[in-house]
Amino acid sequence: MNSKSFSSSNPSHNKNNYPSWVLFTTLLLSSLSLTVSNPRITEAGLYCGTSKAPLKANYIPSFIKEMESLSQLVTSNNWGTHSVKISGSGSSIPIYGFAQCFRDLSHTDCLLCYAASRTRLPRCLPSVSARIYLDGCFLRYDNYSFYSEGTDPSRDAVNCTGVAAGDEAERVELQERVGRVVDNVVNIAERDGNGFGVGEVEGVYALAQCWNTLGSGGCRECLRKAGREVKGCLPKKEGRALNAGCYLRYSTQKFYNEDGDAGGGNGFLRRRGVIVAEVLAAAAVIMLALSASYAAFTKFSKIKKENNNLGQISSSISKSSLNYKYETLEKATDYFNSSRKVGQGGAGSVFKGILPNGKVVAVKRLIFNNRQWVDEFFNEVNLISGIEHKNLVKLLGCSIEGPESLLVYEYLPKKSLDQFIFEKNRTQILNWKQRFNIILGTAEGLAYLHEGTKIRIIHRDIKSSNVLLDENLTPKIADFGLARCFGGDKSHLSTGIAGTLGYMAPEYLIRGQLTDKADVYSYGVLVLEIVSGRRNNVFREDSGSLLQTAWKLYRSNTLTEAVDPSLGDDFPPSEASRVLQIGLLCTQASASLRPSMSQVVYMLSNTNLDVPTPNQPPFLNTGMLDSDSSIKSYSTNSFISNALKKIGVSYSYSESSRNSDGPSRSEESIIQV
Ligand SMILES: *[C@@H]1O[C@H](CO)[C@@H](O)[C@H](O)[C@H]1NC(C)=O
Ligand SMILES: *[C@@H]1O[C@H](CO)[C@@H](O)[C@H](O)[C@H]1NC(C)=O
Repeated sequence: MNSKSFSSSNPSHNKNNYPSWVLFTTLLLSSLSLTVSNPRITEAGLYCGTSKAPLKANYIPSFIKEMESLSQLVTSNNWGTHSVKISGSGSSIPIYGFAQCFRDLSHTDCLLCYAASRTRLPRCLPSVSARIYLDGCFLRYDNYSFYSEGTDPSRDAVNCTGVAAGDEAERVELQERVGRVVDNVVNIAERDGNGFGVGEVEGVYALAQCWNTLGSGGCRECLRKAGREVKGCLPKKEGRALNAGCYLRYSTQKFYNEDGDAGGGNGFLRRRGVIVAEVLAAAAVIMLALSASYAAFTKFSKIKKENNNLGQISSSISKSSLNYKYETLEKATDYFNSSRKVGQGGAGSVFKGILPNGKVVAVKRLIFNNRQWVDEFFNEVNLISGIEHKNLVKLLGCSIEGPESLLVYEYLPKKSLDQFIFEKNRTQILNWKQRFNIILGTAEGLAYLHEGTKIRIIHRDIKSSNVLLDENLTPKIADFGLARCFGGDKSHLSTGIAGTLGYMAPEYLIRGQLTDKADVYSYGVLVLEIVSGRRNNVFREDSGSLLQTAWKLYRSNTLTEAVDPSLGDDFPPSEASRVLQIGLLCTQASASLRPSMSQVVYMLSNTNLDVPTPNQPPFLNTGMLDSDSSIKSYSTNSFISNALKKIGVSYSYSESSRNSDGPSRSEESIIQV
């Protein structure tokens, strides 16, 4: 059994800007995983202020808004200042923000660098001030207007890295060269009046960059101080001065772009390529976890406003039949004995438990355990526990009063679907009939979540490891930890995101726009996986993603070639290709073209019905340009923009029903990091 990050605490009616930078990072990840670029996202310094925003200040939503505004400015100008004043912001603390890319970064690299800085800066929250220096950009927020600040003796820092020069002669030489190159770049930055300079002196390189908010006097003062201080790094071969108003770096390795054109995008060819995907991946993971807790935080703040009487709910919980005593569950799982562990996921581990009455249950132990949202969490449990369907794992209750929060589910003896379809040394190969039943049952379960009850529930994380099989191989959708409910009046909901790359619908991935059609998309991917026995691995370059393969086969009228080879000839070809076509129908780039889950159930169970012609699914992977073309010779920049455009265009279809301002707008908003 798999479990998820604790986004279940996300606010369901939260209108705040969702952290689209997480989406963006994830998107970049999928398009960049195998390409090279050098946005210089190495972290040179992160400084968090000591004073913290109080819980009631409603700070984090304002913070997220601020980062969104800055991202728009960076998208158009490569830098910007923006502030959120007290009145109207909802927060009692003002936020002044500033972001700037160094002048030699290309625009694309600038966006990447800003995205990276933005994923890391929130590590300082809830501090009311923080600054982060990456080697290609700078990002800061504070509770006062700091824009004219050049130096700050209490905070300015140097970061000396690299090995020290070897013998005395080498040291003297290095010292002399560093001295010259640093003075040179400071002079260039002052002289040219744009606050930027790069240069080389006999194998030592340097870059100086002032923030655009400083006047020439402030810039000079800042850089001179930086120059003095960075020389203190000698005899190390690399040093950086990180001041309030400027950045200065020297190194014996060339690290900057010669053409120094932040506006253009031609610099990459001459650049050393660095694979950034791993770094971005790490950042994205951290931020997903963080965004979940912000969401919990924001929701709590809101609820607190609406309901000052939390205590009342608390006491009602302990009386509820959904409530399990912590000690009972502790004993049931043999004190969370590792031999009882049956699964591990983002939100915590899952244990097999035997209750005193002999009933076997699955107990999920949650990593996040914040008393603040316990009551809200319970409401959700209450809501979801009312939902019963043969294709849904039943939530039996929870325990929230012990040292940690626990969820109690019905226990399923068989394993999750991924273990049946992907595992190399699986013991049982599912035959066609079994696969078809799993596909149909999963569709029924989802249709029930979407349309079967008064509340509409979007699962948000449909994937093979979230579909469990019972002893009869009946599929049961697990993990409502991420499920959100919303009333019929809202057409979509922006909220913190969760989900698994490879299963995420483009509009959800890019904008966090969540409708039941995002589940339909994930379901479509699942269908293709079940039939083909292949994962939709967005990181594969050799043969492209599963979606892409299926689409190509569909176009050439050979869809049955996608069927899992381990089935041999033991399947009905026309039915298989019909099911695959339904899968493609569900994964269309345009959300509005995807069928609803009840339509899917209908198509699956009425085999004489014609399946409509699907449109192209979105291709997010590197192979999308062409599996046999020379992808490696592609320009990084045009590569990314192609990827963005491709998604942008497909995305705009789904928007056109609601927005009249068309594809250009969509593209624009996608590039906002
Ligand atoms: C100094 O910079 C390096 C990157 O070159 C980074 O790994 C390190 O964390 C920085 N040190 C501090 C104190 O931030
Ligand atoms: C910013 O925060 C500091 C530390 O809490 C406080 O002393 C200062 O008054 C605040 N400034 C503004 C403008 O709110």
